[in-house]
Amino acid sequence: MNCTIVILGATGDLTKKKLIPALYNLIKNKKLEKFIVVGVARDRSQNILEHSKKFIKNLDSKTFNILKDSFHYFSANFQNKASFVNLKKFILDLEKKNTLPGNRLFYLATLPTHFEVIANQLGEQGFNKKDNCWHRVVFEKPFGSNLKSARLLNRGVQKVFKESQIFRIDHYLGKELVQNLSILRFTNIFLEPIWNKKYIDNIQIILSENFGVGDRGSFYDKYGALKDVVQNHALQLLALTAMEKPSSLSTKVIREKKLSVLKKTKLKKSVFGQYEGYKKENGVKPNSSTETFFSGEFQINNSRWKRTPFYILTGKNLKNKLVLIHVEFKKLPCGLLKGVCDFIPNHLTIEIQPKEGFHLHINAKVPGKKDIKPVKMDYCQSCVEPNSPKAYENLLLDVFQGNKSSFIHAKEVETSWKIIDKIKKQTIYTYKKGTIPPQANVILKKDVRWHLDVD
Ligand code: BG6
Repeated sequence: MNCTIVILGATGDLTKKKLIPALYNLIKNKKLEKFIVVGVARDRSQNILEHSKKFIKNLDSKTFNILKDSFHYFSANFQNKASFVNLKKFILDLEKKNTLPGNRLFYLATLPTHFEVIANQLGEQGFNKKDNCWHRVVFEKPFGSNLKSARLLNRGVQKVFKESQIFRIDHYLGKELVQNLSILRFTNIFLEPIWNKKYIDNIQIILSENFGVGDRGSFYDKYGALKDVVQNHALQLLALTAMEKPSSLSTKVIREKKLSVLKKTKLKKSVFGQYEGYKKENGVKPNSSTETFFSGEFQINNSRWKRTPFYILTGKNLKNKLVLIHVEFKKLPCGLLKGVCDFIPNHLTIEIQPKEGFHLHINAKVPGKKDIKPVKMDYCQSCVEPNSPKAYENLLLDVFQGNKSSFIHAKEVETSWKIIDKIKKQTIYTYKKGTIPPQANVILKKDVRWHLDVD
């Protein structure tokens, strides 16, 4: 792949922690051949590459030097037209020197407030079209902060770039086990016939973290768990889990299937929480009412799922760093074996992180006895594939190849915001670090518990 990668907001955490390590791995795995990277930020003094070293696993100096030789700093003020005039000259000179054709990826790793102005500046410099080359622009989340702002942003950006050039990222869609979800569902004949309200009792989507807001307090305080994680990651997981079978895995078909689920999704019950000590975090308002915990029951009003609860739970400073989708099947009536009724319903747990894999609990006879016990059939992908590509590697590669199937379309963003905008915040319960607010248990059906540990 021959291209110029321009990272705007190059001194931010995302660049250091995710983008540079992803580029490093792509170079190492020979997925990037001829390229340059231009790191654009206001502050030129920071050595971005040095700062990102500690986030690169198994760093070898040969690969790192290739990255170093292709990395160029450029200092700019995003509001200033002259900065972009100079940036254009800088890029053209580098491309000439490196005999690059002019395929360009602009990665907006900036605060969302800069998105529109940067898109306009890029457009003014003609960075939205060139014969025989591609220009693609990647937007980090959050894309808007409600339906109105997302709509305005979409309109603004679409005035400069065609939808086919716009890549709205949700890095969860680049995670291996999320990419595996459709394969698991649609290539295993035993799953599809039972993937519906008749056989599934409830589905849980858990995104739990065992740390607080860290140095992102001032950003997080404006968003909270609902806008930071539910609007995007959690609703995308819900849409992929619940969507109808697509006729192909093409961008357009998947997007339509996800969209029709989102259009029918709405919240039934919810509980909000804030961890003890949150108000004292750096950048957080002392009287903040921002939630760091959300749990809710969503319903999808279609014939496949009517009245099946989709529970979402997410929060900071909970017990574990754990992301999973837990599918609990219905309990069979106990007519078969007289007196043996207490067998556990089957469940399938798709673990997205930290372990990658899935396991199915089915019932078996205890040898030598009449009793029944659940046994676990386990696929641990991270045990057999410890170096599977990370989300940002998969997604950057998709952008280079122009594959939009793991990116979010304008309509999906807007439909997700519609769901979120309707949610009214109620009481915010304080919870101790390492726990969840006890009220969160009350929204579950009888006999259901949150799946916050892996069996
Ligand atoms: C980000 C959120 O989108 O996802 C963060 O802004 C959250 O608050 C992060 O910590 C979780 O991502 P991951 O890949 O570490 O699960």
